[in-house]
Amino acid sequence: MPSYLSHMLCAGLAASLVAAAPAPSRVSELVKKSSSTCTFTEAARASASKSSCSTIVLSDIEVPAGETLDLTDLNDGTKVIFEGTTTFGYEEWDGPLIKISGSGITVEAADGAEIDGDGSRWWDGEGTNGGKTKPKFFYAHSLDDSTITGLSIKNTPVQVFSIESDNLVIDSVTIDNSDGDDNGGHNTDGFDIGESTYITIKDAVVKNQDDCVAINSGENIYFTGGTCSGGHGLSIGSVGGRDDNTVKNVTFTDSTVTDSANGVRIKTVYDATGSVSDITFSNLVLSGITDYGIVIEHDYENGSPTGTPTDGVPITDLTVDGISGSLEDDAVQVYILCGDDSCSDWTWEDVSLTGGDTSDDCENVPSGASC
Ligand SMILES: *[C@@H]1O[C@H](CO)[C@@H](O)[C@H](O)[C@H]1NC(C)=O
Repeated sequence: MPSYLSHMLCAGLAASLVAAAPAPSRVSELVKKSSSTCTFTEAARASASKSSCSTIVLSDIEVPAGETLDLTDLNDGTKVIFEGTTTFGYEEWDGPLIKISGSGITVEAADGAEIDGDGSRWWDGEGTNGGKTKPKFFYAHSLDDSTITGLSIKNTPVQVFSIESDNLVIDSVTIDNSDGDDNGGHNTDGFDIGESTYITIKDAVVKNQDDCVAINSGENIYFTGGTCSGGHGLSIGSVGGRDDNTVKNVTFTDSTVTDSANGVRIKTVYDATGSVSDITFSNLVLSGITDYGIVIEHDYENGSPTGTPTDGVPITDLTVDGISGSLEDDAVQVYILCGDDSCSDWTWEDVSLTGGDTSDDCENVPSGASC
């Protein structure tokens, strides 16, 4: 038996080998046709044989330092199951540590499975702004018509999911980077979405130190049942200055944001062009917000607000319906900084926030909204 087979326990294949006793030269052909479950214990074996199995079980994989658990270009309909604990060696590099692509892919977790980034090895309080080079975590790029369900992820070095896909459902995924709260975790965004359509994120739990969700571009995005804590809240932006600067038809609903800098936020880039339209924030409960309950601003430059709004990225057809909860003393309930004509057709209902203060600095607040 070729040595790789000892690392790849392929039930159906083993049975076929026994029954048909093929010559070694036929093995590769037979593997291609196999529709069986393959269990891998090494990342490189999984990558090398990924197109040979309809179900890939990743069992207690220790991904070597500086390498990606590479499950790109999977066959249509492949199922990937994380089992046991997935860990990663230490190296200062850009990553990603995991990437999966294909069409009709199902990514799942076996009972008790955990993906552990052991991020404290990289954390230095600087995130992607400096210090150690930290690997990105999970690229779901061109993971189309697919689902990711039930993954439990902890302590990523920096940003967790980078999503650039069409028709992807992410259901019941837990990200627990709370160990980074007092240990230098930074820029640990839960879900960064760009150039995507039809993304649904349902029942996610995100404990981190940056945006729970951040959408830079994309259309038809739905976030529901989320529990976000420790980070920067639910964000659109910053929009502008990229290849794709359109955000359209996005809903954040039925979720909580706790102990976070912001509840909800839209930020667009100063002097850039693009558009943000058909956005709904509904039925959101905030608590322990330290900066802003609701913040919408048209003035970002190099990651910071300039205080001067421009109107090249209009925000239209925004619905805010049902945002309640409490803010810390130093927080501001609502801050809106629009350009001259760049905010219109807003609907604003049932915003009831307690604690914090109101802002005197809002500009060009469209009719319907209140600051
Ligand atoms: C808006 O997005 C939702 C959720 O992805 C989708 O179901 C709906 O059809 C979209 N609406 C339009 C008008 O495209």
